[in-house]
Amino acid sequence: MRIDVITLFPELITTPLGTSIMGRAREKQLVDLHVHNLRERGLGRHKQVDDTPYGGGQGMVLRPEPIFETLDTIDRSQARTILMTPQGKRFSQADARRLSEEKHLVFLCGHYEGVDHRVVEHAVDEELSIGDYVLTNGAIAAVVVIDAIVRLLPGALGDEQSAVEESFSDPNLLEGPQYTKPAEYRGYQVPEILLSGHHGKIAEWRKEQALARTKTNRPDLLD
Ligand code: ADE
Repeated sequence: MRIDVITLFPELITTPLGTSIMGRAREKQLVDLHVHNLRERGLGRHKQVDDTPYGGGQGMVLRPEPIFETLDTIDRSQARTILMTPQGKRFSQADARRLSEEKHLVFLCGHYEGVDHRVVEHAVDEELSIGDYVLTNGAIAAVVVIDAIVRLLPGALGDEQSAVEESFSDPNLLEGPQYTKPAEYRGYQVPEILLSGHHGKIAEWRKEQALARTKTNRPDLLD
């Protein structure tokens, strides 16, 4: 998969996506990442990329020219172009799965109060938000979305961390608690049942725990 990212802060993309599993996915050439600094197409001596909104209002809006000109440098004939914005559709695991099937993704990272809407009207296929809160910068959101997509690419995760199993698990139930060695630490015990070797009872216990955790943390999933 090829991924292009257009941002004012390339290092917010390259550092996290060069680390750990994402870095290895790039080394294994599962993903071909290209980061474009919007500033390079800024206007005039000061490389201006933003301006005040028509009609008045607070904050600055990204001007269309640097964005369209950067997009013109990318062959998007097979690409899906995505704007990261708090005004977008809320990103989910289903979106990660859908987008992991694409050949080429182009992420446009908003900043300030937003981007000139002609970009959305004429160059963007979908707008995505990672949640109901406002970040300083769409690049942070793009990293989240790219990470969720790339880990689904065949070969990105080792067998022991395979993403296959989770796709069969109940999407409306959170995973239950997990414990590892030692069986006792500072007097804190691992639940007896997990040490019992009764696979049936363990499965039953896990299901109960998953339900309890979902009730506490995400009751909306049970509605
Ligand atoms: N930019 C700022 N906040 C954002 C959010 N929640 N999702 C996507 N892009 C953003």
